[in-house]
Amino acid sequence: MKICVMPGDGIGKEIVGQAVRVLMRVGEKFGIGFETEEALLGGAAIDATGSPLPEATVSMCKAADAVLLGAVGGPKWDTLDPSIRPERGLLGIRKALGLFANLRPACLFDELKHACYLRPDIVARGIDLLVVRELTGGAYFGEPKGIEKRDGEKVGFNNMIYSEHEIRRIAKVGFEAALKRRRKLCSVDKANVLDVSRLWREIVLEVARDYPEVELSHLYVDNAAMQLVRDPSQFDVIVTENLFGDILSDEASVITGSIGMLPSASLGEGNPGLFEPIHGSAPDIAGQDKANPLATILSVAMLLRYSSNDMAAPADAIEAAVQKTLSQGYRTGDIREEGCKLVGCTGMGDAVLANL
Ligand code: IPM
Ligand code: MG
Repeated sequence: MKICVMPGDGIGKEIVGQAVRVLMRVGEKFGIGFETEEALLGGAAIDATGSPLPEATVSMCKAADAVLLGAVGGPKWDTLDPSIRPERGLLGIRKALGLFANLRPACLFDELKHACYLRPDIVARGIDLLVVRELTGGAYFGEPKGIEKRDGEKVGFNNMIYSEHEIRRIAKVGFEAALKRRRKLCSVDKANVLDVSRLWREIVLEVARDYPEVELSHLYVDNAAMQLVRDPSQFDVIVTENLFGDILSDEASVITGSIGMLPSASLGEGNPGLFEPIHGSAPDIAGQDKANPLATILSVAMLLRYSSNDMAAPADAIEAAVQKTLSQGYRTGDIREEGCKLVGCTGMGDAVLANL
């Protein structure tokens, strides 16, 4: 299996380094040959080529069976023109690979319950949800967009636009995901205000007819944001458009108290999927061997689980190794607690490898 590896910026190199070690070990254990090839994305690509998404990166990704990404961005590139900022590289590769479905699980590891930001009685009900975020449409990519002068002052505008087929295909991903979980799907929109959301709801209801086994509900996005902190246990799968999903997935992940733990998968049709941690490039701790590699290691598990050949067993093995590592008390700084075994990025990688 050919994996295109894009470390990106900041802590990207360190966390991806540990994740690749885990990938190789799991390959040995299960007799799967993994071949990795490194590509440039984000700030690293800007420094080397002047572009956040070089052509070579797109073709390397397309030729691979899956893509593993660290994180992009950092203060060094924050003052650049928006059209060549590192984030452009990330949005560009999502679009180039047609990765319209972004799966962002947020769950509370038993071992990390103390890190959860919510009240113990809320935590006790558990958090195990999946945000299915549309990733190649909406205000992120809609036209027209820009900043221009009108009547003597500047106006800025973007267009939150969705066509039926875009809504239908992401709704299907939501229902399919719900079928494999607790069979509850909550579609999040702003249909009381936005026309684009009215169409969203109409199409979701249409797709729902093919999934009578799934219990469908709808929430306005403001209410959904509130319900997520009030009682996250009510959610199984949430399906929503790009910008709402960007916001809600950060909220869903941070309430678990451990954004350094959560992986994600971005999937399309016919192209390789892209797998990355939910967190960013953490420039403040980059290069210090302090970063938590577990989100990226768990992204490798998602890579195996969602790739075309069924690799559930090695994915399970990685997840079990992570769980065991946590139960042995190993913690990086972001999830440290009294009496834990404090380790750095490499130390955490070592512990997971040992448990594999
Ligand atoms: C994310 C990030 C990106 C997004 C940024 C870095 C472009 O916030 O993956 O959620 O907004 O999609
Ligand atoms: Mg985001």
